[in-house]
Amino acid sequence: MPRVLVMGGTGLAGRAVTVEALARGHEVVVASRRVPNEDAAEYVPGVQYRSADVVTGDGLEEALERADVFIDATNGMGRDASHVLAFGSQNLLHTAARFGVHRAVLLSIANVDLSAYKYYRAKTAQENNYIASPLETRILRTTQFHDFVTSFFRRGARFGLIPAPAKISLQPIAVSDVARLLVDAAEGRGEADTRTVGGPRIETSRALAEQWKSATGARGAIVATRLPGAIGASWRAGENLVPENAIDGLGYSEWLSSTVA
Ligand SMILES: NC(=O)c1ccc[n+]([C@@H]2O[C@H](COP(=O)([O-])OP(=O)(O)OC[C@H]3O[C@@H](n4cnc5c(N)ncnc54)[C@H](OP(=O)(O)O)[C@@H]3O)[C@@H](O)[C@H]2O)c1
Repeated sequence: MPRVLVMGGTGLAGRAVTVEALARGHEVVVASRRVPNEDAAEYVPGVQYRSADVVTGDGLEEALERADVFIDATNGMGRDASHVLAFGSQNLLHTAARFGVHRAVLLSIANVDLSAYKYYRAKTAQENNYIASPLETRILRTTQFHDFVTSFFRRGARFGLIPAPAKISLQPIAVSDVARLLVDAAEGRGEADTRTVGGPRIETSRALAEQWKSATGARGAIVATRLPGAIGASWRAGENLVPENAIDGLGYSEWLSSTVA
């Protein structure tokens, strides 16, 4: 079985990938800047943890040693976005090429190159690094995760209002489905190069907010808000949707039932 490195394997998507790869019998190494304690929620028994930073390069060689394939699930927000995504991926790919890693898989976002949103520009630069790499690379572009959509509602509900961005529909996808497809790609299965996938259903943000409110019993009125900036413009234009690439996976309401239970 190939040895799989999950870069950013302590994060939301990375942890799901780690669990999936381990369940399929792979030897799994997880790298991120912080190594979790055994009692931390992100800790997965049976995995080797390494401390590595894609930006400074610290620990990268040790993490990539003997890896056959890596899956990049790193993330950086705000100012860190271009450091981690654009610059960090270059470091990671160069070091991997020196260590004879065979295949590299990147988790990206559906239609990310269509928007001028700053974070999306950093993701596009990251994708371009993968495309230019001499390694065999695969990019999985997905729509927004169920958890991400939920975080919108949860944040607002703390202040008594559940925001539902007006004129925006979403096609959220379960991280467990994303993890399955990423490990397929790491194993060389499925489509080569770039694959785009979306969740099974497209629903308005209000319909999703209603499902969340009813599943959690959260208080607060659902209010139409305006998502500002380039991301708002992009999503109102429907650029976050990929109806032709919907997968037969876990929909938002089923995901809510399983997580709330
Ligand atoms: N959220 C969505 O709906 C969505 C949809 C499609 C695609 N994606 C993509 O999925 C990817 C993962 O997102 P996520 O929400 O799972 O991220 P996350 O939960 O924030 O996890 C990020 C991971 O990256 C690690 N990391 C951050 N900076 C690092 C550095 N300098 N060196 C090494 N590791 C570093 C973090 O650990 P440490 O902080 O300990 O280093 C953590 O393990 C992102 O690239 C995102 O664009 C997200």
